[in-house]
Amino acid sequence: METATVMEKIVSLAKRKGFIYPGSEIYGGLAGVYDFGPRGVELLNNLKQVWWKANVYDKDNYYGLDAGMFKHPRVWEASGHVGGFSDPLAECRNCNTRIRVDKELAKVGVVADEKMTEDQINDLFDQHREEIPCPKCGKKEFTRAKAFNLLVKSNLGDFTSEGSEPVYLPGEACQGIYLDYKNIVDSMSPKIPFGVAQIGKAFRNEISPRNFLFRTREFEQADTQYFIRPNENKEAYEAIKTDRWNWYLSLGIREEKLRFKQHDNLVFYAKDAWDIEYEFPTGFDEVEGIHDRTDYDLSQHQKFSGVDLRYLDQETGEKFIPWILETSMGLGRVFLAVLCDAYHEDEMGGETRTVLKLSPTLAPVKAAVFPLLKNKPELIAKAEEVRAALRKIHPAIAWDDNGNIGKRYRRQDEIGTPFCVTIDFDTLGETPELKDTVTLRHRDTGEQERLTVAEVGERIRTAIA
Ligand code: GAP
Repeated sequence: METATVMEKIVSLAKRKGFIYPGSEIYGGLAGVYDFGPRGVELLNNLKQVWWKANVYDKDNYYGLDAGMFKHPRVWEASGHVGGFSDPLAECRNCNTRIRVDKELAKVGVVADEKMTEDQINDLFDQHREEIPCPKCGKKEFTRAKAFNLLVKSNLGDFTSEGSEPVYLPGEACQGIYLDYKNIVDSMSPKIPFGVAQIGKAFRNEISPRNFLFRTREFEQADTQYFIRPNENKEAYEAIKTDRWNWYLSLGIREEKLRFKQHDNLVFYAKDAWDIEYEFPTGFDEVEGIHDRTDYDLSQHQKFSGVDLRYLDQETGEKFIPWILETSMGLGRVFLAVLCDAYHEDEMGGETRTVLKLSPTLAPVKAAVFPLLKNKPELIAKAEEVRAALRKIHPAIAWDDNGNIGKRYRRQDEIGTPFCVTIDFDTLGETPELKDTVTLRHRDTGEQERLTVAEVGERIRTAIA
């Protein structure tokens, strides 16, 4: 497959088949915002469920949380986001296109450190201006780079319209976990080390949203924060990295498409940081960050709130600010990685087909039921009975009675349905020894088996377990 067009095909399939729609499309769209359609929301929810199971139910001493999005204005000062959460922006003087100067410098092999001042970035930019054309008009006439803060402001509770104390939308979802750390300690009495898991929205005024779901302005993060004793970070950090790597494999993602990358330039809160990257059709890029945040967050919130956030070890009587190891995954990016990994074009029955080889656990539809003919009431009645039986195993069982069976298979292949079940005259008893059996067809191989409905149910149950 030609890589340049694979992403376009995925974007087109995602819209055509009800996975992802551009946000506010009938008004011409809103850059950096996407909607999850009926099939997309099923896949997204399945991803969230498997993540929650792996990070709350299957772990000892991990607690779930769902904190409010809006937070006290001081929170984002304490976290460092008001002062330090910015990207260097420059504008083309000819066509007003905005660029992220660090990203453009990276394209010509120059690293602009996260910790550089505006002047230092501009010195670098000035040395390389001749190599950086405007992506729209091709001219090289940019303004100076200016630090542009990514936080999105709201006017919540501001009835003066002055906006002097803005309540920000969350720049990262994890702050809610730090704010509720004390409540969790007081109400759940966890013994350290313990973890807190949360799925929450984040908003960033990204200068150039790009690559479909990859860089958006509104997105969801699935985070874990592991609270540990000071300096006990090394071993736990390695264990967390392995655990997260294995989670991606459990989704069925091909291992050769994944890699770890350590950050050269650390963000303001991190002592060490590794990304898990997936090889998208556009190249390797980050899907999850694993950060050693030391005591940065709780120390800052203790300082700004004036509340004692030290953990009291009941056995030793020791008091200390826990260190935090974070895993932070963008659900949109993982959704896109899952789609890219599942997308295949192959030959079946002498025809080219498009198929999403999604793991049955993630697939939005688990099985589709086909009555052979739609104008035979006895076939329809039997097929409805089969669908009702399979829905007891999983509710996501589709129905299709339109067109020939081959076309119906292709439609289900395109949305990743792992099983198709056909009800024919043999099911009704035309061949007595086949009475009450159906044809089960497997998406990836096209293989077909004659099974009882109970056996089909068992196949589905085992596949999605
Ligand atoms: N709490 C840590 C944190 O927010 P991050 O590396 O800025 O760290 C974590 O973000 C993850 O969130 C990234 O690995 C990525 O998957 C996702 N993410 C970040 N910015 C994003 C954006 N603009 N659009 C979509 N996903 C994004």
